Amino acid sequence: MKGVVLAGGMGTRLRPLTRVTNKHLLPVYDKPMVFYPIQTLVEAGITEIMLVTGGNNAGDFLRLIGNGEEFGLKHMNYAYQKTEGGIADALRLARHFVGDDKVAVILGDNFVQGSVRKAVQDFMNQPRGAKIFLKEVPNPQDFGVAVLEGEKVVRVIEKPPVPPSNLAVIGIYLYDASVFEICETLVPSERGELEITDVNNEYIRRGVMTYEVVDGWWADCGSFEALLRSNILVARERGVDI
Ligand code: DAU
Repeated sequence: MKGVVLAGGMGTRLRPLTRVTNKHLLPVYDKPMVFYPIQTLVEAGITEIMLVTGGNNAGDFLRLIGNGEEFGLKHMNYAYQKTEGGIADALRLARHFVGDDKVAVILGDNFVQGSVRKAVQDFMNQPRGAKIFLKEVPNPQDFGVAVLEGEKVVRVIEKPPVPPSNLAVIGIYLYDASVFEICETLVPSERGELEITDVNNEYIRRGVMTYEVVDGWWADCGSFEALLRSNILVARERGVDI
């Protein structure tokens, strides 16, 4: 299975922190943010990884990550997103890299305390389709939210003002290669982006979506509060009394 880290976008919600640098280069305790999602993939046994980024700081990622030696990788692949067209737009750039393989996609500002290794192995044995990861949160309106019926996820709604559940769809997605064909059918949302939630709803429509609820904490660094919380969670994990 291939891995793709999506680290494009403008990080507008974190301005002025992101006025002169890319969000994913900001610190989370003692490492740049992007290190954590790469580590999440590597820990899950994924060693062929592409990082997609954009903007004026793309070169900084090369200097920072190089060939991925720090993560035990032999090689690192890069793609450049020219516009901030959304998460599914960034993913399109990995099409040739992924080929007919399956792919684990992780947002560059997301990571988990636990491991997704078992879920990744389960997905290897899933004949086709996709798998998403859910986490109970107190503020579901800030995320994609899953609607469950019995054991099945029947819909994902992006940032609903009145959330139908408290299960956020976190930024780790496992897809088969048909994801790229689905991405080509998407139309921009109200915020002008190709939405990953639309991709997930298409897999649900096809009846081939599975899910896991993650153990341990999940960090997203998209707002000041979330970034601060991520720093504290990682520091505590390292034994810092904070
Ligand atoms: O954090 C999880 C949430 O991430 C999910 O629950 C939502 O369903 C999903 O839409 C996404 O929501 P956000 O609105 O928080 O996504 P955001 O625009 O902050 O983008 C998240 C990451 O995706 C960002 O850190 C880098 C990457 N990205 C984003 C855009 C818009 C790109 O690589 N290119 C892009 O054009």
